[in-house]
Amino acid sequence: MDELSRRKMLITGGTLGALGALGAASPAHARALWTWAPSGSVAGRGAGLDPEYVWDEEADPVLAAVIERGDVPRVNEALRQWTRNDQPLPAGLPADLREFMESARRLPSWTDPRKLQAAARFTTKRGIYTGALYGLGSGLMSTAIPREARAVYYSKGGADMKDRIAKTAQLGYDVGDLDAYQPTGGMIVTAVKTRMVHAAVRHLLPQSPGWTRTSGGQTIPISQADIMVTWHSLATFVMRKLKDWRVPVTTAESDGYLHVWQVTAHMLGVPDEYIPASWAEAEAQSRQVLDPVLDSTPEGIALTDVLLDIVAELDAGLTRPLVNAFARYTLGDRTGDLIGLDREPFWQPLISSAWPLLVAFREGLIPLPLIPQAAWTVEEALRRFVLLFLSEGRGIRLEIPDANRPS
Ligand code: HEM
Repeated sequence: MDELSRRKMLITGGTLGALGALGAASPAHARALWTWAPSGSVAGRGAGLDPEYVWDEEADPVLAAVIERGDVPRVNEALRQWTRNDQPLPAGLPADLREFMESARRLPSWTDPRKLQAAARFTTKRGIYTGALYGLGSGLMSTAIPREARAVYYSKGGADMKDRIAKTAQLGYDVGDLDAYQPTGGMIVTAVKTRMVHAAVRHLLPQSPGWTRTSGGQTIPISQADIMVTWHSLATFVMRKLKDWRVPVTTAESDGYLHVWQVTAHMLGVPDEYIPASWAEAEAQSRQVLDPVLDSTPEGIALTDVLLDIVAELDAGLTRPLVNAFARYTLGDRTGDLIGLDREPFWQPLISSAWPLLVAFREGLIPLPLIPQAAWTVEEALRRFVLLFLSEGRGIRLEIPDANRPS
């Protein structure tokens, strides 16, 4: 069966039940021992506990209680009115949740406003690169992260994967907003809501037969190690690719971009002792936690297909072959194969030879290069994709789930 129809079958089947056995049978990748030292973190010290066994002790019990009391609908209704960082918490929240949120919405003491400004300047200048990398790099890579793919697939949002993927990718863009963590921005709200969604998922997913069957022995999902894996698939990956592409990034911009992601990790509930203090530390941690876990799963392949459908539906001129080729160029063939991206003999060599020239030309590093016309087609399509994706995502509401994906 060719790859496309295999994917289609997975999707139209509506459930991966029949493939559950396959998922369960795929070998769980042995994790490397956690040796990353807390001295390399923003905290500078810590107990050094393996984050594989750390979840969120502040948020998890509160959200579990909210779900058990049947409070989720009224909480979601109240949360809809909370959209701006400087807004007081809405009325109607249960006292325990309100108390948690008041504490969770506080920025860390080490937040540096100048660095956040540098980050905003950076994304304004580099929006096309970061946008393409979040949407077609990190977004697709997430489907090759087995735990994330499975958690997403079997949770409530998995039933509407398009909406789910759009929401997560949106966070990547919101991080780059000019006023992300300013009083007028919305990132504190988004991060705190996301932290609560994750806590709810930790309570719910262990009750899902599909998740339990495929969790490879993990009993509670979304550990702090898992969160850092995803963090690296966003922040560290994007910075790595910008370097590969030789996009000029000043030290202030690179520090700023790291900082906005450090603050975001903290706001998502990651203890400071796991948040890398520098890009060198981030790279070291990423090599330990992200690189070895990438793998193929039926759930990930199904999610890839949905993501590619979103791209096609945006109709930004990005055809499937172009997306396949660009994603293979950014993610590499190994990840491309893991998520079932087709190989593109025409576009792949063209993109790998023309893209560096295009970047150099855009950055004023080379004068009037001989850039093939097709390269401009790729660039124009990416630009339209980023703009459309951004506008589609506006106004998304994050809701606390109170159930898993119906099986
Ligand atoms: C929900 C972002 C890590 C699994 C969400 C949402 C966002 C988000 C914005 C809300 C979307 C929605 O309500 O549908 C992030 C970021 C992460 C991260 C920025 C790390 C930096 C993870 C990890 C996992 C995970 C590591 C699993 C291993 C989920 C699940 C949901 C969710 C299952 C709920 C989907 C539902 O509504 O059913 N995440 N996430 N996330 N996330 Fe994450």
